[in-house]
Amino acid sequence: MQRISGIADMRARVVDWQRAGLRVGFVPTMGNLHGGHLALVDKARALSDRVVVSIFVNPAQFGPNEDYATYPRTGEADCAALDASGVDCVFLPAVDAMYPDGAGPRTRVEVPELNGMLCDVSRPGFFNGVATVVAKLLNIVTPDLAVFGLKDYQQLLVVQRLVRDLNLPVDIIGGPIAREPDGLAMSSRNVYLTADERERAPALYRALCHVASRLERGEPDWPLLVAEGLDRLREAGMQPDYLEIRRADDLAEALTSDHELVIPGAAYLGRARLIDNVRVSLPTPGQRD
Ligand code: PAF
Repeated sequence: MQRISGIADMRARVVDWQRAGLRVGFVPTMGNLHGGHLALVDKARALSDRVVVSIFVNPAQFGPNEDYATYPRTGEADCAALDASGVDCVFLPAVDAMYPDGAGPRTRVEVPELNGMLCDVSRPGFFNGVATVVAKLLNIVTPDLAVFGLKDYQQLLVVQRLVRDLNLPVDIIGGPIAREPDGLAMSSRNVYLTADERERAPALYRALCHVASRLERGEPDWPLLVAEGLDRLREAGMQPDYLEIRRADDLAEALTSDHELVIPGAAYLGRARLIDNVRVSLPTPGQRD
């Protein structure tokens, strides 16, 4: 596996592959890799001839009181795992190379229609930081396709939207949510959970599944379902951030006439903020008959 940190070198590597007719897949990460990232790598490998993974802890997506300084940086272990997963190239840019004039208010990419809701309310500016760095990484790596995890559902929609609006020639693919055996979605920040919190953490996924199965069984009182889901989070000792029923394609508030739904949830547990979601397809009236 090749390691590249220079922007021009990264671009040249991919251009060579593409000139040789090879399809290049890309998985952007902030490192501290776990099974969830490796599932995205597997997906990229299945769909392309060469796979590039970036590791870059992006200062522009952390709020002033967030964990940028202490975010786990596990470069050597990450590179060993990527090598073992058959990744061809890892891109490790320095902060100064990505933001030579500082990560402050320069040109930035914003997807307004997906701001002001869900994760953006408790992490204002987060998606602008993500959208900006993803646009930069896609312009540097110039992959044919890029894989983003479905766990960060709002992030995936932000990236799909910016790629469409900026006419970037890349296919954005949603990669599966990898779960621990008890259902907890894998996340780099799960390392912040104490042993006791780790035992309680799967309650988020269970609450989302509870709401999903009641929706699928035709419960008409959606506010009641949301209240039940939030109660389950509190009973597990979590402080809910949100749990909602949204339209899957644009995260707008869902109406009872919508069929493709997503139930996103986020909750604080000790030092960790957990997020997860469950998709639901309700039968159309024709299918019900
Ligand atoms: O999901 C992440 O790890 C990050 O938000 C991403 C997409 C790598 C951008 O920094």
